Amino acid sequence: MAKTLDGVYSWLAQHEQDGVARLVDWLKIPSISTDPAYKDRVQNAAEWAAADLKSSGLSVQVLPTGTPVGSGHPIVLAESPGGKDYRGSHVLFYGHYDVQPVDPVDLWESPPFEPVVRDARKGEPGGRRIVARGAVDDKGQVATFLEALRAWKEVTGEVAGGVKFTVLLEGEEESGSVNLEPFVKAHAADLKKCDVCLISDTGMLGRGKPAITYGVRGLAYTQITLHAADQDLHSGLWGGRCPNPINELSKVLAQLWDKKRRVTIPGFYDDVLPLSKAERAEWKKLKVSAASQLKTIGLGKAADIGEDGYDTVERGWGRPTAEINGIWGGYTGQGAKTVIPAHASAKVSFRLVANQDPAKVTKAFFKWCKDHTPPGCRWELSDHHGGFGVTCPVESPHLQAASRAIKRAGGKAPALIKSGGSIPVASMLKSRLGIDTIFMGFGLDDDRVHSPNEKFELDCYRLGARCHAAFIDELRGR
Ligand code: BES
Ligand code: MN
Ligand code: MN
Repeated sequence: MAKTLDGVYSWLAQHEQDGVARLVDWLKIPSISTDPAYKDRVQNAAEWAAADLKSSGLSVQVLPTGTPVGSGHPIVLAESPGGKDYRGSHVLFYGHYDVQPVDPVDLWESPPFEPVVRDARKGEPGGRRIVARGAVDDKGQVATFLEALRAWKEVTGEVAGGVKFTVLLEGEEESGSVNLEPFVKAHAADLKKCDVCLISDTGMLGRGKPAITYGVRGLAYTQITLHAADQDLHSGLWGGRCPNPINELSKVLAQLWDKKRRVTIPGFYDDVLPLSKAERAEWKKLKVSAASQLKTIGLGKAADIGEDGYDTVERGWGRPTAEINGIWGGYTGQGAKTVIPAHASAKVSFRLVANQDPAKVTKAFFKWCKDHTPPGCRWELSDHHGGFGVTCPVESPHLQAASRAIKRAGGKAPALIKSGGSIPVASMLKSRLGIDTIFMGFGLDDDRVHSPNEKFELDCYRLGARCHAAFIDELRGR
């Protein structure tokens, strides 16, 4: 079996430039799911992926989503037939082809949808890279899987080397996956046939340090507006004698954390399980340095802050948080304007762990807001989206197989890590269908996901394609 895999590796090496060119084509399509102006382009990106899967021999459908039908972005659903005597697992590969908005656009070194493949500049860590929106999150990572499928087909003549896959590519991950749950429900009978889900949409422990992510956090996302007067006011005439909603909103939000930087919402920690001694010990062994991670984002040691009693890794992977993601109101244009606005708003989200329920957390937060209503003001509270966190048991035979694949593909056993990010599909698959998810991701901490100048390094791309190729070999088991 190793011989065939070697052939697949050679094919990948020989055709790497073509593979990168294919990815560059895909990256040119601005599939920004949150902005309705890009609806047709999101559709184009789905069709691009469908054509790619088809050319590797899979049967493919591009299915509309939403109510009314077509109001959401499509889901690409593909299937490989599986070889005649295939005895291995049926794997559901999930990825997303939508991307985050590009703003602030002037901070991009090259236009976000004109991908550039270039070497590292002087002083820049890492090697050759692809710079574009979606380079690593998630088109580039999905492409590592697509190229492995292609390579196995080219080398063996069998679709996916005879392995049974269902491939589900979503177009709404970056905007909250609102139409995914109904889709999963409607296709439950089919999706239930899958034994495990595989996702490449996470990161590694560092350059040359591959990892399997065995858990991601959940999310509850809200928007709140504090209303005061029924009109904007002159701040000289009214200031100091009626509520200024910006002042009041700031004061309320400042109370979200106590001195120990714990979230003050009553009941917030009720469903948080304490971290086990064993898990904390395992994480310590990874020797993650707060200082060197902070350095990659331009911060010093003094910035190593968070909930008391936990280190940087525990805070990121194992503890819940509250974050203000945006806050606005009043005059923010050029020059000065002496105004007290009628209202002020904020986007507030929570990362969740263990059994925390996003709906319960949102409800508790809204109650907390009401209990803190500033005199003379009123709230408008809205719930954006949410999802539970998930953890995959590290003993899972599929996780073990992925671990062997990574070792074979890169020579190094992967670290077992968690991530602070969220990927809504994983908890849906677990709660609705009982399917565990393995996150085999190839990103780096300094890839600037969701930021200007997002990149994916070719070393990571190459490792990704080889790992997927080797995982297919593990599944074939012959
Ligand atoms: N791929 C990311 C999540 C991620 C990034 C996990 C890096 C681990 C390491 C995903 O596309 C993402 O951005 N998720 C959102 C979810 C949200 C929009 C529902 C997130 O985590 O904010
Ligand atoms: Mn992603
Ligand atoms: Mn993302």
